[in-house]
Amino acid sequence: MTKKVQVLGIGIIGGGFIARFHIKSWVGVRDADILGVFDPDAKRAREACALVKSLGVGEAKPYASITDMAADPRIGALWICAPNYTRGAVMEEIAHAVSKGKAELVGVACEKPLGRNVREAKNMLELARKAGLLDGYLENQVFSPAVVRGKEIVWARGAALSGPPYLARAAEEHSGPHMPWFWEGALQGGGVLNDMMCHSVEEARFMLTPPGAPRDVLTPVSVTAYTNCLKWQEPKYAAILAKNSGGKTDYLKRPAEDFARSLVEYKDKAGKILVVETTTSWCYVGAGLRLSMELLGPEYALQINSLDAGLKVFFSREVQGKAGEDLVEKQNAEIGLMPIVADEAGEYGYIAENRHMVQSFLRGVRPEENFTDGVAVAELLMAAYRSAELGKTLAFPFKGLDDYIPPVARGKWNPKSK
Ligand SMILES: NC(=O)c1ccc[n+]([C@@H]2O[C@H](COP(=O)([O-])OP(=O)(O)OC[C@H]3O[C@@H](n4cnc5c(N)ncnc54)[C@H](O)[C@@H]3O)[C@@H](O)[C@H]2O)c1
Repeated sequence: MTKKVQVLGIGIIGGGFIARFHIKSWVGVRDADILGVFDPDAKRAREACALVKSLGVGEAKPYASITDMAADPRIGALWICAPNYTRGAVMEEIAHAVSKGKAELVGVACEKPLGRNVREAKNMLELARKAGLLDGYLENQVFSPAVVRGKEIVWARGAALSGPPYLARAAEEHSGPHMPWFWEGALQGGGVLNDMMCHSVEEARFMLTPPGAPRDVLTPVSVTAYTNCLKWQEPKYAAILAKNSGGKTDYLKRPAEDFARSLVEYKDKAGKILVVETTTSWCYVGAGLRLSMELLGPEYALQINSLDAGLKVFFSREVQGKAGEDLVEKQNAEIGLMPIVADEAGEYGYIAENRHMVQSFLRGVRPEENFTDGVAVAELLMAAYRSAELGKTLAFPFKGLDDYIPPVARGKWNPKSK
């Protein structure tokens, strides 16, 4: 169903951390305004709406339910920014409102991961299809200007003259998530592998794919992965997680992995093997979030490190300010030489991502990054969990992939009891 609108009205579901990033990115998005926020926590919804208004990116108001927001004729598309454990119920409600004729929407965009496992991710895709909605998968890193521009240059110069790239390395590391639910395997779907390797495998796959080519020019053939809990299972750090969650999170008994790596072998159409290598961690204590990427080919190399910021500040020990995240996401210090990512919403890819989703929805075409990509990412992550569980390389896809739930998501993983 396409709605004849000049300016697309956006409703955001979940007004927390990532919603704030999207709202801030909206200063660089055209032809769409943020008009509503639904969050069961009314304070969060009000705060998100206030931020929207203060930035002048829409006359947002809080709604009492997803259905109410979807039913407002001013709203043409929804952004799902609620926690992972609510995905299915949120999408069911959207699909129901559309199918029953209560809402007329063009599309839905969903934050990573699309589901906590393959079954959930496929269900999201199925629900969107049945409701006739265009679907966008919000993987910001494939829209990051450094990644997009780097790919363009490497393929136009290095690959054109010396051959395509054969190895992509991606790493996403920080000192741990901001909310207790992320740390719970059952709620989040796993540990850092599910939370952050979703970015790394997808941006590396994107870099290895020739510009403009469809995803299926590369076929995954094997996955090898390793997981461990290096820091947060130590009693001193487990106690911090327990305290932050009011006693709920118990990393002595039910840890999730805080370190994970994977190696994915792909085959291209000519049968040549290409490699993606990823590292993710919740136990990296540097200045803050570090996103790194390398793309290597016969006569070239590309390198990105988000903490190699052009802007740095130095504060002496006399400057004992309050702890904050005003310099960089997941900031760990306030003094010494500190990098500042000047425009995080732009540099991490949120502005370009949201522009692309809005323009696709307004033109009535499926976004280039969509729920099919979200399913493909979930498949790779579940294969990585299974490989780590078995301690061996797995041919991809493996039997039972669709129904596989990693031990960490069932509360049955503990590397110390090995
Ligand atoms: N692209 C990225 O780099 C990135 C970064 C952070 C988070 N995320 C993703 O965004 C999603 C949200 O993460 P976050 O960091 O904003 O979490 P958060 O806990 O900070 O915020 C989530 C918000 O959703 C609300 N909520 C809870 N249940 C809800 C429901 N049923 N319907 C609507 N809202 C509900 C909560 O009250 C909260 O305000 C997660 O899926 C996460 O993986 C993506």
